[in-house]
Amino acid sequence: MRLTSLLSTAARPGRALLALGALALLTGCDLNFWRMDGHQSTIVVDGPVAKSQLNVFYVTCWVTLVIFIFVGSVLAYATLKFRARSEADEHAEPPEQGHGNPLIELSLIGASVLALVIIAVPTLRAIVYTYDVSAADKANAYEINATGYQWWFKFEYPSEQIKDVGPLVAANELVIPAGRAVRVNLRSLDVIHSFWVPKLAGKVDMIPNRGNFLWLRADAPGYYWGQCAEYCGDSHAVMRFRVIALGPREFNDWVTRQMEVARTVAAAAATPPKAQFAAFRTDFKRNEPGWSKEFELKPLDNWRAHQEPEAKNEDAALIRQGRDTFKAKTCVNCHTVRGHEGTGTVAPNLTHVGSRTTIAAGLLENKPEQLARWLRHPNEVKPGNKMYNGIGGMAGYIKKDDSGKEVANITLTEGDISALVAYLSSLK
Ligand code: CUA
Repeated sequence: MRLTSLLSTAARPGRALLALGALALLTGCDLNFWRMDGHQSTIVVDGPVAKSQLNVFYVTCWVTLVIFIFVGSVLAYATLKFRARSEADEHAEPPEQGHGNPLIELSLIGASVLALVIIAVPTLRAIVYTYDVSAADKANAYEINATGYQWWFKFEYPSEQIKDVGPLVAANELVIPAGRAVRVNLRSLDVIHSFWVPKLAGKVDMIPNRGNFLWLRADAPGYYWGQCAEYCGDSHAVMRFRVIALGPREFNDWVTRQMEVARTVAAAAATPPKAQFAAFRTDFKRNEPGWSKEFELKPLDNWRAHQEPEAKNEDAALIRQGRDTFKAKTCVNCHTVRGHEGTGTVAPNLTHVGSRTTIAAGLLENKPEQLARWLRHPNEVKPGNKMYNGIGGMAGYIKKDDSGKEVANITLTEGDISALVAYLSSLK
């Protein structure tokens, strides 16, 4: 054996180790990288619709694995058996070419058709199931309308009608009854979005002027991460939402509370309002995760904790100031706070915003410091958003002057921000 080939033989395991090391470095030696049960996992799922779709994925994987092993084995066999063994072999004329063996060719066609049929049957079944769940499921189904906006989701509950108002409206957090099939009607008010809750059901597009829908069912109470899955402009990647599945009684309690008008905190004896949230950190970096580890570990408990007003630390005077600021700074033009001021419908309904776990369309945890961050630098948090840039004829934080230059329109002082945070957080 020549020295060079000896060296290359010895180097082979070394190179393999090096490649493994590089892979470990690339993934930051983070074992979580290899876990399959993340928030948006399509492998560890919690509902029958997602399960039927996962099943199609597995069937396809198994069929392709069998094909891979078969083709790989034939290739390996031919490579080894017919390899050049001597100098003469290397320069030999190719053997006489045949024109195929009818039996082998027919068998290959038959095997390919069989492989396609094996994949097609569960695929067609899953497609039918996605749009048409069982009769028993349908009889007990719950209906919800979801509308995509740049860049947030509106959820309407047509079966929960509020007198003189219309259906119950929520935003960015879809609360559903667990164990029941839910039909989600999908609409869009501007461009094409896509509704995707990976653990519950596959994505379906929300298309302007076209009525799509999907079925989903959460087997048990839980907290699920959702995401817009169709590119829809600047903040597509941060157009997120949540699905919270609750048991029947808890779901009814939630509906009852949401049907109520916005909560008003009784004004205490007048104390001079203080800028109590001004001290919150301002050094957020772009793309810094907007939620805490505790929240990620126990999101459903966290959601439950958000339903209850924080009776102890509420500053009634500051909340009152926030309500006035909400009106004075024209937030009311786009947002509704039912029972208080504001009837706008182009932006999320904030009647019970304090009871949500997230703000800015699922991007940040609903905590005073994150809310202050969002109000202070909306365009940093969510580029292109309408609160900052305006929508239609309505100016946001900025507007264009006569020469087309961007000038400040809404300016918030730290005091305004503190008051708004106190007010919005009180809307449980
Ligand atoms: Cu909406 Cu992407």
